[in-house]
Amino acid sequence: MANTLVLGTQWGDEGKGKIVDLLARKKKFKTVVRYQGGSNAGHTVVVGKEKYAFHLLPSGMLYPSKTCLIGNGVIINPKVLLAEIDLLESRVGLKHAKLLISEKTHLIMPWHLVRDSISGGRIGTTGRGIGPTYSDYVGRRGIRLIDTRSKKRFSQRVKEELVWNKKLIKLMLEYYQLTKSQRDKLRLRTQLNNKKIINDYWLWLGRLKKNSLIEIGDVSLFLDQLQEQKKDILFEGAQATLLDIAHGTYPFVTSSNPTLGGLYLGTGFRPRKLKILGVAKAYTTRVGAGPFPTELVGKIGQRLRKVGHEYGTTTGRPRRCGWLDLTILKYAKIINGLDALALTKLDVLTGLSFLKVAVGYKINGQIVDVFDVDGERLKKAKVVYKVFPGWKKEITTIKRFDQLPTNCQKYVNFIESFLGIPIKIISNGAQRGAFINHD
Ligand code: GDP
Ligand code: IMO
Ligand code: MG
Repeated sequence: MANTLVLGTQWGDEGKGKIVDLLARKKKFKTVVRYQGGSNAGHTVVVGKEKYAFHLLPSGMLYPSKTCLIGNGVIINPKVLLAEIDLLESRVGLKHAKLLISEKTHLIMPWHLVRDSISGGRIGTTGRGIGPTYSDYVGRRGIRLIDTRSKKRFSQRVKEELVWNKKLIKLMLEYYQLTKSQRDKLRLRTQLNNKKIINDYWLWLGRLKKNSLIEIGDVSLFLDQLQEQKKDILFEGAQATLLDIAHGTYPFVTSSNPTLGGLYLGTGFRPRKLKILGVAKAYTTRVGAGPFPTELVGKIGQRLRKVGHEYGTTTGRPRRCGWLDLTILKYAKIINGLDALALTKLDVLTGLSFLKVAVGYKINGQIVDVFDVDGERLKKAKVVYKVFPGWKKEITTIKRFDQLPTNCQKYVNFIESFLGIPIKIISNGAQRGAFINHD
């Protein structure tokens, strides 16, 4: 049995979508599961000239014979999910696809979007209502798909929550001192109109429920049956280790658990054999605010952004770029118990005359080689780098490790030996076929 989890090891956008797509091709994986996050995620799969961006749907949706699952840990904006399904349906058909959504998932409501717009600036959120929805989830004020079993029940919940949210938003507007034009942009009258919310949501939910490819039900039970039948399951993490609410660079994080623990909470999958594959970009990027010790603000950073097309899949924002930080990957290995790595975007480094890699931080005279998530301590830390010579030859079409330029091989070998885990897959281009098996 080889249940496999693919998760991000850095600050997101490592290429998880591409790696999940690569693994999902294997016949043994009949099921692909998202377990946390919402439409803040943007997972890209490139097939020929076509580029697909997945936000809520698992990246396995491109394979017609797979069943895709959205676990209870995922939060759903039904309008966004509907648009994503419609778009994919118009592009690839989806005749034989199956999507099972947990009835325990929470809904992102208009007041969550409004609250995120008011308060998300400090973190640089994606503005998709993520923080407020998860806050209401743990605050026991959330609306779940379960609550949409009848219109009466749903309407009642909307009514109750709207009373509270109007008061809360009024207070937030005062506290955050929004300008008039910022307030106008929130379109509060429409966004917080009881009737409109109920009607819009009922329409979108109705369309989702009527869609023959979708079933709303019990994901935990489904996974239990798969486990009983010893079927292999592929799990797709969104966001990444340093964006984890518990283990990341708090408060500059998302509001869910992208790390290993989130898988169990977000699906009900019970602990069994699970291979954990961390996805790491060959350099580092981050979107939004927060510490980033190996960030490159000058020419090299700009070059990485340009060559690597480092612009957010969800928001289009330019990603901050920097050198690879092995202390981060060591931390991700420890937190998630990584068995192996997939190293992506190695091709983007081609042409640089030298490469730097963070191998430790000097903090208060001591050198540590595992990332410290305390932003205050990081401010005092001096990054310890190891420098590597670069390589010139293009590597995108290379299929075998021993055909990579020697300096490129040395770079990969060093990462492997520093971390003490194998790099099983090397991704050397955005295209579906651009990878090297490195078993
Ligand atoms: P995810 O959120 O982890 O799935 O990553 P994103 O899809 O947000 O960002 C990764 C970007 O890099 C996408 O545009 C991918 O098409 C692209 N990509 C993935 N792997 C490679 C690679 O090996 N080389 C290059 N050049 N691009 C890649
Ligand atoms: P994928 O799955 C990169 C970042 C946001 C912000 C912080 C909080 O594509 O790797 P949120 O909207 O979640 O409250 O924002 O988290 N963020 C991501 N950065 N990739 C993502 O997802 C992200 N999802 C959230 O930029 O800094
Ligand atoms: Mg992404």
